[in-house]
Amino acid sequence: MLDVQHLSVAYGVTEVLRDVSFSVREGSVVALLGGNGSGKSTLLNALSGLIAPKGGSVRYLGEETAGLGAHQMVRRGVVQVPQGREVFADMSVSDNLELGAATRSNRKEIRNDMGDVFALFPVLRERRMRAAGSLSGGEQTQLSIGRALMARARLLLMDEPSVGLSPRMVDAVIEAILRLRQRGLTILLVEQNVGVAAAVAEQAHVLKDGVIAYAGQAKQLINNPEVLASYLGR
Ligand SMILES: Nc1ncnc2c1ncn2[C@@H]1O[C@H](COP(=O)(O)OP(=O)(O)O)[C@@H](O)[C@H]1O
Ligand SMILES: [Mg+2]
Repeated sequence: MLDVQHLSVAYGVTEVLRDVSFSVREGSVVALLGGNGSGKSTLLNALSGLIAPKGGSVRYLGEETAGLGAHQMVRRGVVQVPQGREVFADMSVSDNLELGAATRSNRKEIRNDMGDVFALFPVLRERRMRAAGSLSGGEQTQLSIGRALMARARLLLMDEPSVGLSPRMVDAVIEAILRLRQRGLTILLVEQNVGVAAAVAEQAHVLKDGVIAYAGQAKQLINNPEVLASYLGR
């Protein structure tokens, strides 16, 4: 579904990603791990069109998409769930979900999809009239995922959804990702939590200083002390 080849990204003269190559099969969950500042968010931003790569190729469903803008990527179903969730705190839960559908016009389909999101995350239905800022961290994560689904995501780019959550809420995020996978969604999951990656992903890639330093089975990563120590700093 997604094939990234020799991707490089720079901020000004500072090259942050170098020669990054990997692919994501349709219907799979692929984890992207790495310490702070290793370039994970930069990579997602390049794939979702928020920043233009300096070189290399991004093929999505057979089409070269490197250099397309975020709107064009959203319309193709490539939707990012941003780091820090970034819900609109003063707006209601349902208005936040509506915003996810901003590029769409078929009201009936939008209503149906909102029903799907509520079926997936029942707590959002209960709290739909509440301000998003009043939700717990885990509920806000569900809301940010729901907003991406409202954009008709086919490839979900999730940026550290578990960060800052209690262990119970981390379990809820794992559960949500597994349910999305069951529905056939394709997910590229950025994490620092190796346990989350191992619980949901088949393949894992580890970024270190802007290059892919390890690639393999996610479940083997968790047993690889060398990878854990040198690339993830624990
Ligand atoms: N907008 C920006 N301008 C300049 N440098 C940036 C910008 N965003 C991130 N960086 C730098 O790029 C590197 C990778 O950052 P980032 O992709 O956010 O890493 P991660 O998500 O893995 O923590 C870091 O050294 C960071 O300081
Ligand atoms: Mg980041």
